[in-house]
Amino acid sequence: MSSTILVTGGTGFIGSHTTVALQQAGYRVLILDNLCNSSMAVLDSIAAITGTRPEFMLGDVCDAESLHTVFKRNDIVAVLHFAGLKAVGESTRIPLAYYDNNVHGSVQLLAAMQRAQVRCFVFSSSATVYGDPQKLPLTEDHPRSATNPYGHTKLVVEDIMANLHASEDGWRMARLRYFNPVGAHPSGLIGEAPQGTPNNLMPYVAQVATGHRPSLQVYGNDYNTPDGTGVRDYIHVMDLAAGHVAALRHCLDAKQALLTVNLGTGKGYSVLEMVRAFEAASGRPVPYDIVARRPGDIAACWADTELAHQTLGWRATKEIDEMCADAWRWETQRAQRK
Ligand SMILES: NC(=O)c1ccc[n+]([C@@H]2O[C@H](COP(=O)([O-])OP(=O)(O)OC[C@H]3O[C@@H](n4cnc5c(N)ncnc54)[C@H](O)[C@@H]3O)[C@@H](O)[C@H]2O)c1
Repeated sequence: MSSTILVTGGTGFIGSHTTVALQQAGYRVLILDNLCNSSMAVLDSIAAITGTRPEFMLGDVCDAESLHTVFKRNDIVAVLHFAGLKAVGESTRIPLAYYDNNVHGSVQLLAAMQRAQVRCFVFSSSATVYGDPQKLPLTEDHPRSATNPYGHTKLVVEDIMANLHASEDGWRMARLRYFNPVGAHPSGLIGEAPQGTPNNLMPYVAQVATGHRPSLQVYGNDYNTPDGTGVRDYIHVMDLAAGHVAALRHCLDAKQALLTVNLGTGKGYSVLEMVRAFEAASGRPVPYDIVARRPGDIAACWADTELAHQTLGWRATKEIDEMCADAWRWETQRAQRK
């Protein structure tokens, strides 16, 4: 058995791009996914990019038996945990499903790791744990406050990791707080494939540009930002993937670690700036309507990226035009494949 990185949720958006980056860095990857928000076709696309099809096991992180089998049958040295539900609005409607999947699933996974004595764990947290920013840029010591059940699940898992780390020697863990992941692999073979109406801005904009949706609804243009629309820190998913490889190396090399870092670019773009960048990349108009603010949305949010640079030697390198161009390539190639 050769040493393997277990990637839960590895057929999803961020997990699939990180699998590519891991394989290209020389790691052997085993994906565990229940396919509730992805499909196995991604495995062929990953193989087309890297030349290697990752191992795959259909399974649920809430299922202790499947997890036990995974750890028994494979020489797993570390776990990257992407599996989870991620829609803020949905989490307010079905909170128990979010606590079950995101919190109970993480507890089952950590328990299986503990039993198998695998103590290297990288977790997908989110900038949503900062709540409404008291100051910008957001540094990792900014107070945490969850404004919705999804954010609360991330906060709870961060705390569970800290408790476990304090309870037992040898845990090497990273809590990676993503800002707004967008874009796609430059090949156009993998990208974000939301089922139904996209929750995030970029896939929605892309579907307006292709003509799948008539127009974009912009929630509020009266925020205290340069053009009045919400400002976010968009990060290219391949930069994010590289951040995971750096965090994994950091954890594998450490004897003990509990790292908490922002993964963002440190720059904020407004909704309208993003729309214009997407129009330029696609050559298509993106009509939009200004509608009322969405409850719970914050005005602006971007990352302080110094800690990630100091501890991981990592920085995001891709700009907004590249994020839009890659997302557009993915969207158009996907439409042709359908
Ligand atoms: N995309 C974002 O904007 C964003 C921002 C911050 C944090 N995150 C976090 O990053 C992680 C990955 O997000 P993504 O955008 O790739 O989402 P995604 O939905 O594309 O991927 C998640 C994957 O996990 C799988 N999954 C869900 N529940 C599972 C379970 N119980 N057992 C096994 N597999 C399961 C899904 O089928 C999917 O393939 C999530 O934890 C999410 O909360 C995402």
